[in-house]
Amino acid sequence: MARGIRAIILNSDEDYTKQLRSKLLSINGLKVISEIDEPAMLENILDNYPAELVVVNLDPEPEYVLQICAPVIEKYPELTFFAVSESNDAQLILQAMRTGFREFLLRPIDDDQLHQATNRISKLTNTNTQQGSIICIFGTAGGVGTTTIAVNLGCELAQMARRSAVIVDLDLLYGHIATLLDLTPQFSIADLCQTLDAIDPSMIEKALIKHETGVSVLARPLQFAQAQAISAPNITNVLNALSEMFDYVICDGPPRNSAIGPTVLELADISLMILNLTVPSVRNIDRILREMEREGYNLERIKLIVSRTTSDCNTLTVADIEQTLNKKIWLTIPEEYKTVSAAVNTGQPLHKFAPKSKAREAIRTIANRIHNPSENGKNEKESNLSGLIAKVLGKQ
Ligand SMILES: Nc1ncnc2c1ncn2[C@@H]1O[C@H](COP(=O)(O)OP(=O)(O)OP(=O)(O)O)[C@@H](O)[C@H]1O
Ligand SMILES: [Mg+2]
Repeated sequence: MARGIRAIILNSDEDYTKQLRSKLLSINGLKVISEIDEPAMLENILDNYPAELVVVNLDPEPEYVLQICAPVIEKYPELTFFAVSESNDAQLILQAMRTGFREFLLRPIDDDQLHQATNRISKLTNTNTQQGSIICIFGTAGGVGTTTIAVNLGCELAQMARRSAVIVDLDLLYGHIATLLDLTPQFSIADLCQTLDAIDPSMIEKALIKHETGVSVLARPLQFAQAQAISAPNITNVLNALSEMFDYVICDGPPRNSAIGPTVLELADISLMILNLTVPSVRNIDRILREMEREGYNLERIKLIVSRTTSDCNTLTVADIEQTLNKKIWLTIPEEYKTVSAAVNTGQPLHKFAPKSKAREAIRTIANRIHNPSENGKNEKESNLSGLIAKVLGKQ
């Protein structure tokens, strides 16, 4: 596993974007933190984003790209550069190696060669700062229980992790993570998004607010206008900086219609997609998964969680959903309205307010699975599309 490699892609060939992204994201532990299509931007991006790997598609103008890359490679001797091309011209390969590229990957990229090459980077970077996991909690419809899971998962993981955990409120306009933990933040994520320069750890410490469970919170902006000024590069910068300080960075959101959505999903090591036993929620996740597949995202990093399950609902079952989506449900969280709403209204996490509740147990199980992945075998399996729900979704 290529643990903790942050990669930047330089690729001017629009038709190859998805293929290249999907190849790289198939490597466990590798995150694509930025994608650019203009070679002249490379230096500027590297000045601002800490990374371990730069993957450069030399096509369609290898001479030009090599010329731009040469001084940049010299400026960043600690970075590893891979070249990608359709051409196996010996002169070009030699020229790329002389420019300082460590690997020359011929298209279509061979999986073994790519794995070996990225493993070598992992070994080289092992002594550097450890990177925590970014966990995105994504609601497939409104009110499915996303924020409840983010808050309680954060509290559980904070107690398991060596370097604790932070919850980031990416519902930039209406988030209420701080309220659910009865915290009153003075600062917010907006204070870390004023610039794209590397963020100083002391600035992060100042922006965070700590809960008694040990979990830290990076609250949503205090004013609406601040939220609108936050861009995807800002978010990349903040999440990267946090992952150097914490073992777990838990993102509540982004909301479905947010412009920062694709960036967060790309950066996330694990995305928990939250759904309910309702057709609109299943329809949405079905569309989201198809779109992500088309865009080259690694669907293995996505886990499906059905929240608020109750035996009162027998028109749609977990088995129906699995069959429809061709993907296993990772876990279910039961509906416990009285308990959850009382915990919300008193600003307490479930582990304190109702430690023996079933909802708390389920969320603790999620935390355990994330913290001890080796104990939790392969639980994704294929299935054929059939049954009532397939008809509901218009697939038969
Ligand atoms: N397991 C549960 N049992 C009962 N009620 C729950 C459960 N999980 C969440 N709720 C309740 O459902 C409502 C919505 O929950 P929550 O805010 O977590 O959802 P959300 O997906 O973040 O919503 P939004 O789309 O507004 O961001 C809240 O009132 C919450 O108390
Ligand atoms: Mg929410």
